[in-house]
Amino acid sequence: MEEAIRIENLSYAYPDGQPALNDVNLTVYKGDSLAMIGPNGAGKSTLLLHLNGILSSNDYVRIFSEAITDKNLKEVRRRIGLVFQNPDDQLFSATVFDDVAFGPLNLGYSEAEVRQAVADALAKVGMSGFERRSSHHLSLGERKRITIATILSMSPEVMVLDEPTSNLDPRGKWQLIELLREMPVTKIIATHDLELVEALCDRVVILDKGRIVADGVVKEILHDLPLLEAHGLSGPPGIRSASESGSPSRG
Ligand SMILES: Nc1ncnc2c1ncn2[C@@H]1O[C@H](COP(=O)(O)OP(=O)(O)OP(=O)(O)O)[C@@H](O)[C@H]1O
Ligand SMILES: [Mg+2]
Repeated sequence: MEEAIRIENLSYAYPDGQPALNDVNLTVYKGDSLAMIGPNGAGKSTLLLHLNGILSSNDYVRIFSEAITDKNLKEVRRRIGLVFQNPDDQLFSATVFDDVAFGPLNLGYSEAEVRQAVADALAKVGMSGFERRSSHHLSLGERKRITIATILSMSPEVMVLDEPTSNLDPRGKWQLIELLREMPVTKIIATHDLELVEALCDRVVILDKGRIVADGVVKEILHDLPLLEAHGLSGPPGIRSASESGSPSRG
C-alpha cells in the first residue's frame, strides 16, 4: 500500500509549555478513511495541524514521502486539504465566494476555472446561492459547510477534517457523510461522532493525553467497550455498555 502520510516519534508542546503530543507514530495509506477519536484535550487537533505545516517541530512528518519545507508548503496545502475545528479560524474574506475562491486563485486557476471550482464546491456542501453573503453573518453550521467547500474547491488528495459534523443538522450531517463516502480520496477525521465513524471510516486511532493508545479496524475498536471507557469514550448509539443497554428506554 502506498503511503500518504508517515509520522514518527512526534512530540509537541505549545509555546506556553503545554504538552500536546507524546511520541506519536502513525502511517496513513492512500485510500484510508481514518477516524481519530479521544477525549477533549487528547491532542487530535494538534496532530492534524501538523499534517499541512501549520504546526511543526523537528520531528519526522512525511507527506507523500517528503518533509514539509518552505518550498513545497503551497503544494502540500493543495494536496492535503485541512478543515479547522473552528470555522472562524478558516474564514477571513468579505464574502463566501472569496473564501472558497481563495485556494484556487492562489494556485493560479483562470477566472473561469475559479468560478467553476467555487460553484461545484458550494453545490457539494448544499450552499449554492450563498456566494455574495458574508461568511461572518452565517450560522455556525453554515460556516462549517463553507469551510469544507474551501478545501473541496482545490480537489485535495487527502481531506483532513476536524469535527466536520459538529453543529450540523441531521440532514446536513448525513449529506456530508454521503458526500465524503463518494469521494475517492484519503480521509483523516477527528471526531466525537461515532455514527460518522461507523458510516464512513475503516480504521480508528484513539488518542489520549497526546499518545496513540489504539489503532485498528472500526468494527473491532468500536465494539471494545472496556477500551473505549478506559479513555473517556463510549460505544456508538447501537453499541452501549451492559449497564446502559439494560435501560428500558433503549432498544
Ligand atoms: N494554542 C494552544 N496553546 C496552548 N495549549 C494548547 C493550545 N491548543 C491546545 N492546547 C492544549 O493542547 C492539548 C491538546 O489539545 P487539542 O486541541 O489538540 O485537543 P483535542 O483532542 O483536539 O480536543 P477536543 O476534543 O476538545 O477538540 C490540550 O491540553 C490543550 O489544552
Ligand atoms: Mg480538537
